[in-house]
Amino acid sequence: MRHILIDTDPGIDDALALIFALNSPEAGVEGVTTVVGNVTQEKALKNALKILEFLGVEGVPVAPGSTRPLLREPRVAEEIHGKTGLGGAVLPEPRLRPDERSAVGLILDKVEEFGRDLTLVAIGPLTNIASALLVEPRLAEEVGRLVIMGGAFHVTPYGFGNVTPVAEFNIWHDPEAAKIVFDSGIPLTAVGLDVTTDPRNRLSPEALREIEGLGTRRACLVADLCRDLVHRFGGLNLHDPLAVAAAIDPRLVRTKPYVVDVETRGELTLGMTIADRRDPRRVWRRREPNVDVCVSVDGDRFMELFMERVVGV
Ligand code: RIB
Ligand code: CA
Repeated sequence: MRHILIDTDPGIDDALALIFALNSPEAGVEGVTTVVGNVTQEKALKNALKILEFLGVEGVPVAPGSTRPLLREPRVAEEIHGKTGLGGAVLPEPRLRPDERSAVGLILDKVEEFGRDLTLVAIGPLTNIASALLVEPRLAEEVGRLVIMGGAFHVTPYGFGNVTPVAEFNIWHDPEAAKIVFDSGIPLTAVGLDVTTDPRNRLSPEALREIEGLGTRRACLVADLCRDLVHRFGGLNLHDPLAVAAAIDPRLVRTKPYVVDVETRGELTLGMTIADRRDPRRVWRRREPNVDVCVSVDGDRFMELFMERVVGV
């Protein structure tokens, strides 16, 4: 059993990632924490509760987190995820109640409970993770690993930014939080746009039609979540489900250690994740690599798992 805690800003692909994790028999979801990003924190919390309720999940604590980045104003992406944050999916107001702890409180409690058996999976901006590290720096050596969906590292032909030519949304939304996390010494795997925007890992219009044809309750939800973006962009990047899949089964991805730093001051490059891909004998910013960057994915196996665990085929 791989014990995981998911920090998320649902968000369409976050919702798919939660469904993936909660339908993965080898994963024990010990908690969910929500953060401002795609939508406000309030909407993110409600959407996480809605998804757990839809799946009939009970006993998984869901705790509210940061309503704004550490230093900056929130910049939500409702033009992508819709007013509710769940695209075209309509789910009833949740009866499930949030946990009485804050996101930081739940994260620290679960690290204390599971220690190195716990993997934190951050699929939104890193504000909550950075806040937990500021409260308790020992988190970096007590947790097993942090797997993030974040960054663009130019380690594949797809490693460009999605907010700017060089910055990926989760890092760009709170670059100071990302820098705290990247500098903390926490064992860190980054699943970046280099692999999540690879056409082989996207949900195609053909796959959407297959899902729509199933007519099951879960397939209808997935279709309603994805339909608008698949039609607008000719496919849907499965950023967060891929990060969750990599956290649950690291055999799905290949990673390479790099020294990585985050731009927190640039006018044109704010939120850029710079990986030093030069000769390893050159020393830049730090002596040892601080991030295991995902450089390739078994795309066929990932899509198979996605259809099985998210869609339920
Ligand atoms: O850049 C993609 C990331 O930003 C995903 O986590 C998506 O949900 C958004 O948060
Ligand atoms: Ca997300």
